[in-house]
Amino acid sequence: MSSNILFPEDFIWGSATSAYQIEGSPLADGAGASIWQRFTRTKGMMVNGDTGDVACDHYNRYATDVALMKQLGMQGYRFSINWARVMPSGRGAINEKGLGFYDRLVDCLLENGIAPNATLYHWDLPAALDDQGGWLNRDIADWFADYAEVMFRKLDDRVKLWATLNEPWVVTDGGYLHGALAPGHRNLFEAPIASHNLLRAHGAAVQRYRSVGQHEIGIVVNLEPKYAASQKPEDLAAVARTEAYFNRQYLDPVFLGKYPDEMAEIFGEAWPIWPAEDFDLIRQPIDFVGINYYTRGVFEHSESAWPVKAGYVKQVGATYSETGWEVFPEGLSEILLWVKNRYGNIPQYVTENGSAFYDAPRAENGKVIDPLRVNYLYKHLREMHVAMEKGVNLKGYFAWSFMDNLEWSLGFSKRFGLVHVNFETQERTPKESAWFYSKVIASKGEVLNQAMPFYG
Ligand code: BGC
Repeated sequence: MSSNILFPEDFIWGSATSAYQIEGSPLADGAGASIWQRFTRTKGMMVNGDTGDVACDHYNRYATDVALMKQLGMQGYRFSINWARVMPSGRGAINEKGLGFYDRLVDCLLENGIAPNATLYHWDLPAALDDQGGWLNRDIADWFADYAEVMFRKLDDRVKLWATLNEPWVVTDGGYLHGALAPGHRNLFEAPIASHNLLRAHGAAVQRYRSVGQHEIGIVVNLEPKYAASQKPEDLAAVARTEAYFNRQYLDPVFLGKYPDEMAEIFGEAWPIWPAEDFDLIRQPIDFVGINYYTRGVFEHSESAWPVKAGYVKQVGATYSETGWEVFPEGLSEILLWVKNRYGNIPQYVTENGSAFYDAPRAENGKVIDPLRVNYLYKHLREMHVAMEKGVNLKGYFAWSFMDNLEWSLGFSKRFGLVHVNFETQERTPKESAWFYSKVIASKGEVLNQAMPFYG
């Protein structure tokens, strides 16, 4: 049980989005195509054939979106940059108009008292780079660092928090191993190479930042505590594998300079022998870790669960969100503490946390009542306080997501927003969860001492 809840004065309360999920206008003003541009046009890959061509039309509506963030009292905003807007071919020529969009967005945030937090890569690789192998090409570490430097030089006078990559695990597991996300490959041999080059690119960008940047840079990973379905040795071994694959595959190289031993066991003949010097590049000191937390996983040994041989076990009686993820708030404090204990007491941010639930249609009084999301938020925010009381150096929270958006291959069928978006009219309506979050922010978390608000 948590003692009296009151978050520190300098704790940042914000929300998060990513470029392809909200911006729309993917080819406007000279931008290049991204792999998501292609993927969404590939038959059968997107629910309802949805695309990000319009999405939330944020490219044109950013100023009113930022005004709404201000109205809700948000203090920070985590957005990502579409690499191909800035460098249409991914390397070389810079598209000043594309760069101008992020320049204006940052100014607008600051004018509204909102701290910008920029992520350089949230899954939308320039298509022209994919044509040259994308994350499978070793040169991508330099391409990424060159692009990062353009952004640092343009925005570091105003952006004080940078992240290199968002969720490298999803980039490779979804994009190169199982093929459910762009670029849609399904190849055991490619996945470790893509992961390794993501890590090298991360290291190269951090290195570049130290020569041109003045503020803070880190990486954003998605983490989940992994539980064993039983105490049988084979289930415990399956959990160790899935935990290495999911939670340690990226952070161990970044902090400890090596991969977990289980990686070779999982990938077998597809696991390469890596050049030792790569780990010097990967293991750059970073200023913070960003953690995206949604759920936990319970696993048992399963021969058919390729390639980790760990099968997901659903829990009887638990609440699951619309994306099939168990609501497990205690996992948040658990994972924040795990990071502290394993990698040291580095500053942490919760860079994403949220849920897709069915939202009832807007009521006659204009309200969108979303009690399950309020409940999710309430419980997870309390868990952050639990972690801080146990010594976690947690500096901020970014709710996923500011508004409903394109949920990748699930299209617009799943809504994670605090703000409801009518995709026909582009009208925004803050849900009850947004107003609840607004009260949390205004009271520095004090309202979390009260019982869960009731919405009927
Ligand atoms: C990603 C977001 C995504 C969210 C919900 C995270 O994996 O960073 O882009 O929309 O989870 O699935």
